[in-house]
Amino acid sequence: MINVIGLGYIGLPTALMLASHGQVVVGTDCNADLVATLNRGETTFKEEGLDRLFANAIRGGIRFTTEYQRTDLYIVSVPTPYDKFSKKVDPGYVVKAVGQVLQVCPDEAVVVIESTISPGTLDKSVRPVVAASGKRISLVHAPERIIPGNMVYELLHNNRTIGADDKAVGERVKAVYASFCQGEIIVTDIRTAEMTKVVENTFRAVNIAFANELARICRHDGMDVYEIIRICNMHPRVNILQPGPGVGGHCISVDPWFLVGDYPSLAKVIDESMKTNDGQPAFVLNRIHEIMKENGITDNRRVGLYGLTYKENVDDVRESPTLQMLEVQERHLACPLKVYDPLIQRQIVENQFFDFDAFLSEVDLVVIMVKHDHIKQNWDKLKGKVILDCHNICPLEGVYHL
Ligand SMILES: NC(=O)c1ccc[n+]([C@@H]2O[C@H](COP(=O)([O-])OP(=O)(O)OC[C@H]3O[C@@H](n4cnc5c(N)ncnc54)[C@H](O)[C@@H]3O)[C@@H](O)[C@H]2O)c1
Repeated sequence: MINVIGLGYIGLPTALMLASHGQVVVGTDCNADLVATLNRGETTFKEEGLDRLFANAIRGGIRFTTEYQRTDLYIVSVPTPYDKFSKKVDPGYVVKAVGQVLQVCPDEAVVVIESTISPGTLDKSVRPVVAASGKRISLVHAPERIIPGNMVYELLHNNRTIGADDKAVGERVKAVYASFCQGEIIVTDIRTAEMTKVVENTFRAVNIAFANELARICRHDGMDVYEIIRICNMHPRVNILQPGPGVGGHCISVDPWFLVGDYPSLAKVIDESMKTNDGQPAFVLNRIHEIMKENGITDNRRVGLYGLTYKENVDDVRESPTLQMLEVQERHLACPLKVYDPLIQRQIVENQFFDFDAFLSEVDLVVIMVKHDHIKQNWDKLKGKVILDCHNICPLEGVYHL
């Protein structure tokens, strides 16, 4: 039996996938409301294919509980935020979850940490807890790479990395993941596995920062960044990403900071990249201010942000550029901007609308923060509005860009 600990964005689909592929799975989460929702037969977030997977897993006998189970294999998928001051990974949730596992597991159990951690975290923070317990267990690190919006497909098809001290244990865990994963599964050591996950997200963050920096340079001197990137990308060895209003979510906006925190005198490019991406919402705010002036809009109550999530077509708002921007705005004590997101039906911020038409009737300037499919199907409704398109997707005339 596999006990999956933490049933959030990563743990739930993983547990469901295992249960749908013949594994006996119990999912454990400390959040009793979340467990009750799952036990009512409802999923806890929206994701393409998740409901179908849930139904398959129920047929496969999955159970959900707040209790840790006594078994020989655990998969831990709890949050790993970073300390905003030191920038280092905060391993507190992982340490606590492993401590709880140790209270119930038998000797020789295998504990797989899926949570993203910086290199050396298992050595520094988790091994001492295991040693103090007196239990003989094997630790494994199997970081997750899936992207919200395409999680189910990527769980099935992505390549995976498994870090283990002992090759035989690594191969045993590989066989479990291979029950559903059609990608290649590499077995390596724990520190390499820890580092690869953080490096992958850092690669993305640095490349996004480069595109964002180009947007600022081009804005400063009146050049079209999109046309420049389009032409540059026709070079056979150039592949520049698109600029945007900032970076959010649980991975790219968080994990690279772990390296800055651990190697402050070495991780210079990474540090600057993260600062560039974190400064992007303020850059957008500045653009809004310029565009308001140019169009004689004097009241920021007539400005609306379209999109609250950190990326398109998902309902995850964690660290989203819109939330970051509202925070920057609040520091300037300005009246909060209006916000609408078709995927968010619960109140998260002030001045949030739940009806698109009502939102549009209250604003003159619409800022496209997120490129949900919904807006691409509603360009007609935006006619006559001043538009700041942070993603270069709007086909209407006279649209402003970053
Ligand atoms: N969300 C992503 O896109 C993504 C992608 C790849 C990797 N990751 C990594 O996966 C890990 C989990 O992220 P997430 O997005 O699933 O987080 P999440 O916040 O959605 O879910 C974590 C769950 O763990 C539960 N939990 C916390 N402590 C617990 C404990 N001691 N015992 C039992 N349950 C506990 C919480 O109640 C919550 O439901 C993080 O390290 C993250 O960096 C996330």
